[in-house]
Parts: sequence; structure tokens; C-alpha cells
Amino acid sequence: MERTYLMVKPDGVQRNLIGEIVSRFEKKGFQLVGAKLMQVSKEQAETHYVEHKERPFFGELVDFITSSPVFAMVWEGENVIATARQMMGATNPKDSAPGTIRGEYAATVGKNIIHGSDSPASAEREIGIFFKEEELIEYSKLIKEWVY
Ligand code: GTP
Ligand code: MG
Repeated sequence: MERTYLMVKPDGVQRNLIGEIVSRFEKKGFQLVGAKLMQVSKEQAETHYVEHKERPFFGELVDFITSSPVFAMVWEGENVIATARQMMGATNPKDSAPGTIRGEYAATVGKNIIHGSDSPASAEREIGIFFKEEELIEYSKLIKEWVY
């Protein structure tokens, strides 16, 4: 089953949105396979955001994601990567639709509450940055028969 890396960013944790965000993905029918509150290191941040290394806001990105704890998660489900991105809404909250996480809770692109992998390759890479294999738990839930 497809997996994605989702992360409530420091602004989402500080604004008490962990529960709200976890609840949305649970209710959608996705399954949590790993989660932890963690302080991201500078090395992890620079690796995670390497695709933005040449952008003018790279330093800001690294400083922000390491400024306070994040809530790191791995979720599993059919089409979870693309669906989670839809549920998050557009990167810039001025464009994110009402009802999406960013559309409901974010006001600026720099503090847009949540990160989600944008492709299968990104998901695999990002899960590897933040989780060890033994932190991801494979288990079955009866509810699956009512989702799929
Ligand atoms: P993530 O799920 O966080 O990766 O967002 P995304 O995939 O929707 O956007 P992208 O990967 O292009 O950018 C990564 C993050 O950089 C965004 O979520 C924003 O928080 C931040 N970002 C993007 N553009 C800007 C910008 O112009 N200024 C600042 N300060 N941050 C930006
Ligand atoms: Mg991205």
C-alpha cells in the first residue's frame, strides 16, 4: 500500500493543530503507520529541503522547520500521496481552497502548517530522513474492509 510522509510544521504544533490534522486523515480512512513529536536537526532540514537549496528562502525554511518541534507522521492508503496533497491545499494559503487544511488554518506561505510528500520518490526519501524502519508499524485494521 502507498505511503506518504506528512509533517505538522512548528506553527501547526504551536497552534494546537496536531489533533485536528491527525483526525482529518484518520476520518478519511488512511492508516497511521508511524508518528512522533520531534526536534528536526539542521542536517535533517537541509536534506529534506535540498530541492530548494538555491532558492532565496532556503535559509528561512531551514531556520523555521528547526525552530520548534514538528509532528512527523507516515500514513498509508490508496493514493495517499496525491490525496493528502489535496487535503492540505495549495502551498500558498492565498490560493488554498476553503475546507483544506491550509485553506482553513494558514495565512502565509512561510507558515503553512503542514508538509506532505509530492511523489512516490519524495515519500520514500523523506520517510527515510525522519524514521527508522523499526518505527514504522505494519498492522491490519478491520475498518479497511469498509473503506476499500
Ligand atoms: P511542502 O509540503 O511544505 O513541501 O510544500 P509544497 O510542496 O506545497 O511547496 P514547496 O515544496 O514548493 O515549498 C516548500 C515550502 O517552502 C512550502 O511549504 C512553504 O512553506 C515554503 N515556501 C515556498 N515558497 C516560499 C516563499 O516564497 N517564501 C517562503 N518564506 N517560504 C516559501
Ligand atoms: Mg514540497
